[in-house]
Amino acid sequence: MNFIRHSIHILGLLFMLCMGTAWAPSAAAETFYDSARGITPIMQETKPPVLGNAVNDDVRRTRNYTWQPPTIPHRVDGYQVDKNFNKCMDCHSRAKAEFSQAVPVSVTHYMDRDGHMLGQVSTRRYFCQQCHVAQDAVRPLVNNTFEDVDTVILKAMRSQPGKAPKKN
Ligand code: HEC
Ligand code: HEC
Repeated sequence: MNFIRHSIHILGLLFMLCMGTAWAPSAAAETFYDSARGITPIMQETKPPVLGNAVNDDVRRTRNYTWQPPTIPHRVDGYQVDKNFNKCMDCHSRAKAEFSQAVPVSVTHYMDRDGHMLGQVSTRRYFCQQCHVAQDAVRPLVNNTFEDVDTVILKAMRSQPGKAPKKN
């Protein structure tokens, strides 16, 4: 009899343990979760992931829309861009383009916010990597269903019978 009572106690204990583990995930689900920063609470700093091996294939990529800043097709590790020197302009300024064979920065980079043309790159466009980024060969953190205007037009024309554009 004593043995049975004892077993019931143990069973009860096991049951409580199981419940404990069963509840743990639901508690975690309430934690703030962001695919970029993981489950680290907002007030704590995350451990930044190790820097990857940036794509360095030198192939200029298609832009998805008119005002998209082109992505950088080469590595930029350790390039100095501060008040003393801009390594990017060492190749990308108009004067250096012939020698470096880099794409010279476009005219918009020499304009102030009122559209006035300046003699040197505008302070608005000085810190290149605010807008231009090198690429890492990683899986995107979030899905993207963006379609460029060519695809949108093509789909619209295909939906009208007899109006599909010829292949060229
Ligand atoms: C040593 C010369 C050199 C330096 C320094 C350099 N680039 Fe480049 N960049 C090039 C060349 C050459 C190309 C053309 C594609 C290629 O060969 O990689 C290019 C291409 C690009 C493109 C693509 C342009 C397009 O129309 O697709 C961007 C954007 C760019 N670089 C940004 C930068 C930024 C930002 C920096 C500084 C962090 C920088 N580059 C530093 C030489 C350079
Ligand atoms: C505020 C955002 C911004 C900053 C900062 C910026 N760019 Fe750009 N860049 C753009 C945009 C947008 C375009 C595409 C439209 C255009 O030409 O303005 C562009 C285009 C370019 C191109 C392609 C030019 C062409 O004719 O195809 C190069 C090269 C480039 N930028 C290099 C640089 C370099 C080098 C710096 C730093 C000195 C820089 N950019 C700073 C937004 C920026």
